[in-house]
Amino acid sequence: MFAAGVLVGLLVATCGYTWVLRQPSGAVGGVAVKELKLGHSLDLNHPVHLAMERMAERLEELSGGRLTLSISPNGQLGNEVECIELTQRGSMALTKTSTATLEGFLPEFAAFGVPYLFRDEEHFWSVLHGEIGDELLEACTTQNLRGLCWYDAGARSFYTVKTPINTPADLKGLKIRVQESKTAIAMVEALGGAPTPMNFGELYTSLQQSLVDGAENNPPSFSSSRHYEVCKEYSLDEHTMVPDLLLVSEIAWQKLSEQEQGWLRQAAADSAVLQRELWKERSDKALEVVQESGVQVTRPDKQPFIDAVRPMHESYEGTDVGALLERILAVE
Ligand code: GCU
Repeated sequence: MFAAGVLVGLLVATCGYTWVLRQPSGAVGGVAVKELKLGHSLDLNHPVHLAMERMAERLEELSGGRLTLSISPNGQLGNEVECIELTQRGSMALTKTSTATLEGFLPEFAAFGVPYLFRDEEHFWSVLHGEIGDELLEACTTQNLRGLCWYDAGARSFYTVKTPINTPADLKGLKIRVQESKTAIAMVEALGGAPTPMNFGELYTSLQQSLVDGAENNPPSFSSSRHYEVCKEYSLDEHTMVPDLLLVSEIAWQKLSEQEQGWLRQAAADSAVLQRELWKERSDKALEVVQESGVQVTRPDKQPFIDAVRPMHESYEGTDVGALLERILAVE
């Protein structure tokens, strides 16, 4: 009655994934296919999105098409806070978030928002791929989430509509959009600017309408969001290294068989490897793209920025985040 290979029935859509009854070509009867939904806030040509597309391909390969991933970019399914909440409830199987947003759920993630914490990229990756990174992934389980892998999000720097930020004094009186993170707010305050927390998806229009004077992000995000069409000054002060994190809902995870969990883990791990390769290439390309469109890219002396945020480091002394910062600094 139905042609082979044609979708024959949609069963239920619950707990972050859809069960689809699909008739495989040349076969009699159907097999159950599970489709996992993943929502995130980045654009289709962002290296993190591209890596997750690769994850979807790997998942199909590994599972022989029995476990699939449907990715909704650009905040289509909600902003980062909303996507985390949907994932906690199991209404979405996976989400990719910045650890800055996760700070509102797990305070220890504030550590990544503390400026000039990492000596260099090697230090950053030794932390993420070592004991501390593993502990942080594990901590997500207390929030009904499971950390699957880290994605590179480079270093964040200021961009503004028209004021070059060569020293912290240049931020005075400027409204700077920050992520929904107390640490990001404290950082911009420490540097003398006026922090304005806002969703990433609202930022383009807010810049256009002069609701804010600037923002801060890594080169691929500055470029793929097209914020450079409005902001013509990008000052690479590289104040923070805030990684991205792939999260799976604990509820959706528990509904997968051990074999399916293994496929998902493997596909995520493979995507993380590809993402780090893509990152370097796309960061350099992003700087070229924005410069070609008339953005002035500068590399200010970092020392005045480092000096201005020193009190912020001291403010964590004696706290849990302070203890984590000390452990991070001690990583070779
Ligand atoms: C980065 C990060 C996103 C985040 C964005 C932001 O681009 O990868 O997950 O939404 O920063 O500034 O909000």
